[in-house]
Amino acid sequence: MTEAIYVEGTVRPDEESVTGMSEAIETDTTETETAPFPTKVKANNVDAFYAEKQALFGVSLDVPENQVTALIGPSGCGKSTFLRCINRMNDTIPICRVTGDITIDEQDIYDPAIDVVQLRARVGMVFQKPNPFPKSIYENVAYGPRIHGMAQGKADIDDLVESSLQRAGLWNEVKDRLGESGTSLSGGQQQRLCIARAIAVNPDVILMDEPCSALDPIATARIEELMDELRQNYTIVIVTHSMQQAARVSQRTAFFHLGYLVESGATEMIFTNPEDTRTQDYITGRFG
Ligand SMILES: Nc1ncnc2c1ncn2[C@@H]1O[C@H](COP(=O)(O)OP(=O)(O)O)[C@@H](O)[C@H]1O
Ligand SMILES: [Mg+2]
Repeated sequence: MTEAIYVEGTVRPDEESVTGMSEAIETDTTETETAPFPTKVKANNVDAFYAEKQALFGVSLDVPENQVTALIGPSGCGKSTFLRCINRMNDTIPICRVTGDITIDEQDIYDPAIDVVQLRARVGMVFQKPNPFPKSIYENVAYGPRIHGMAQGKADIDDLVESSLQRAGLWNEVKDRLGESGTSLSGGQQQRLCIARAIAVNPDVILMDEPCSALDPIATARIEELMDELRQNYTIVIVTHSMQQAARVSQRTAFFHLGYLVESGATEMIFTNPEDTRTQDYITGRFG
C-alpha cells in the first residue's frame, strides 16, 4: 500500500501517472529507498560556459553511491557537459569554464591541489562510440594500471587484466584471443573492453555518455545487464536519450532542460509522477 509503484522494464511514456497516493506517503517512500545509499558525488550550483555561451545554470545534484543515476533530457540541454564536469574532462576544452562546487566523498575535485590524472582514474568514462586503443585486447586493459604503477610484475598485471575483463563480462569471449587487436571485436565487445579498461584502474565512479547509442539491441541489453552488476561496486552516472533505457537501468533520474536541472529523484517517481510540467511533457513525448 505505502510503496511507490516500481517501474520494471520498459515504461510506456503514455501511461497514466500514478494517482491517489498522498504526498506524505510518496515522500516517505522515496526517503526510505534512498537512505541506505550515501552521497558519492555532490554538485552544488554548477554553471558551465563555452566562451560567452552558458550551457549549465546552477545545477545541484546528489549522486548516491552504488546506484545508477540517469541524466535525461532533449539534445543540447547540457547532459554531456554536466557529465564531463564530474571528472573535469571539460578542462580539456579550452573555451569551457566551470564554476560552482563538485565534491566526491566530500573532497572538492576542483581544488587546485587535485591531480587531474588521478581523478580521471577514480572517475572513469565510457563514450558513445567505443574507442579502444589500436593495441591488443590485453594491452587495452593493462595500459592504465601500468602507467599508474598499480601492478608490478607480469603475474600481477595478468591478474588485473583477467579480473577487469571478468567484471566487464567479457573474459569468456576473449580469454583465448588476448593478443588480438581491441578493434577486431564487435561494437558491443569493444564497449565492454572500454568498461574493462576503466575498471582496471580501480575507479569509484563510472560515467557513461550514451554508451549504447552505437550498439544493436542485443549488445545494448548486455551492457544494461552489466550496469546492474557494476553498481554493486561502483557509482554509475549514465547519459541516455532513451527514456526506456533510463527506466530499465537507473534507480535515480535527473531531467535536464535548456541547461537547467529541472528535477531529480527516484526513477519511478520521475516517470510516473513528475513534479514539473516540463518533465511531464518530456516523458510523455511532447518534445525532445
Ligand atoms: N565543445 C563545445 N564547444 C562549444 N559549445 C559546446 C561544446 N559542447 C557542447 N556545447 C554546447 O553546450 C550545450 C550543451 O551541450 P551538451 O552538453 O553536449 O548537451 P547534451 O549532451 O544534452 O546533448 C549545447 O548548446 C552545445 O551546443
Ligand atoms: Mg550529449
